Amino acid sequence: MIVCSCNVISDHDIRGVVSTGDELCSAAQVYGCLGCTVRCGLCSHSVRRILEERPARDIRYAPVLEP
Ligand code: FES
Repeated sequence: MIVCSCNVISDHDIRGVVSTGDELCSAAQVYGCLGCTVRCGLCSHSVRRILEERPARDIRYAPVLEP
């Protein structure tokens, strides 16, 4: 589904970028990774929602390093 009609970006495009960038935290950063910029801003809420849906990094199985 097209999320951003100004840049013709789909939810699939956004999810692809979000899944590879743990440090991404804003719509502007997501658009930067996709090589474009926010124009009218109507899609910003949808992009933020996709960012919030991103699963938290699972640290339950991180190794415990003993000195
Ligand atoms: S719909 Fe995304 S910037 Fe306009």
